Parts: sequence; structure tokens; C-alpha cells
Amino acid sequence: MDNYEYLKSKIKDICENYKDNPTGGWITGDGPIPANVMFIGEAPGKTEIEEGKPFVGVAGKTFEGYLNLLGLSRKDIRITNTCFFRPIKLTLGKTGKTTVSNRTPKISEVNLFKDILDEEISLVNPKIIITLGNVPLKRLSNFKSIGECHGKLIYNEALKRYIFPMYHPSALTYNRNDEFKSMYDNDWMRLKNTLNNELKI
Ligand code: URA
Repeated sequence: MDNYEYLKSKIKDICENYKDNPTGGWITGDGPIPANVMFIGEAPGKTEIEEGKPFVGVAGKTFEGYLNLLGLSRKDIRITNTCFFRPIKLTLGKTGKTTVSNRTPKISEVNLFKDILDEEISLVNPKIIITLGNVPLKRLSNFKSIGECHGKLIYNEALKRYIFPMYHPSALTYNRNDEFKSMYDNDWMRLKNTLNNELKI
């Protein structure tokens, strides 16, 4: 078994043995190994579990649109998550019907995959890691919130890698105003400049 197959089998093992909170399936990362550019999201949702790949639902479509604007496509980049299972919340409605929704992964759940994500980063060996949202940001840096550092290139001494924090693409759905949209667009343009001119990737 090669290193990546071994990593996949460890993900499967952790996900299938986790019983502390409800979860709804699991996936691995997607895209080439090695890769110069690596994106790290939070956790898969319903569509990702159905299709077996990260970022293929609504947020994924937004993400891919911006990626294409940079002249990149999914085959050029590695994309993965901080938590590999879908964290879910079950709510019992008045009619007795249970509804399933996504929830943010708990710190203990993120920690289950600490070694796995570190190992995936080593195998991918990216020149830059773009964190999407607060969950991967907190996992890979000491920042407390994306609002402090989005759109800036940061060298992470502990990791010995560049990281570029961005808002999660689903933030566009929650912040439906022109000001947020232009700030988000601007962060992608800064990323383009970083890739092309600063790091020359
Ligand atoms: N949001 C994430 O953070 N990851 C996915 O894979 C999909 C949506």
C-alpha cells in the first residue's frame, strides 16, 4: 500500500469508528499529489458525501468559479478538508420528523484528523496553503478569526509554509451585500497576484 492509500485507510478507520456525535458519511481530499497549490476547507456537506469529493455543492460551485477566474482548474490544485466526515445535527420537528443539517466540527473532531491532515500536507508538499474559513485557519495558525488576516500572505514558521487565509465561499451566501462581495473578490485578486508575482507559482 502506498502512503496515500495508507492515509485513506486511516481516514476510513477513524470515521467508521467515531461514535461520539452524529456524522453523515466521509470523503478524502481530491486533486493531484504533489501540487503547488493546496486549498483546505472545513468539512464535507451532503453533496460532497453523495459525490465522494470535496467542494462540489453550492459552496463548491462558487469556489470553482473564482478558481477559474485565476486561470486554474481543479486538476491543477489539491483540495481537502480539516474534518473528513460530515458533522451533522439531528433535529426532531413537531410532526415527529427528524431533519438533518450540517454543523461546524467540534475541536475534538478536528483533532481526530490532526495527524492525517499533517501527513496529507507533507505528501502534497504545496508552496502555498489557502485556508477557507475559520476552521482550517485555527487548525493551521494562531489567528482567532478570519476577519483579522484574510487576503494576506503569511509565512507560518511552525509549518514552514506560506498560508493565505480566505473566507469560506459559503460566506458569500450569508453576507449578501456589495461590500462583502467586493472584499471577497478583492481577496481572490490578491491571491492571483501572490501566486503569479510574489511566489511565481
Ligand atoms: N465546505 C467545506 O468546507 N468543505 C467541503 O468539502 C464542502 C463544503
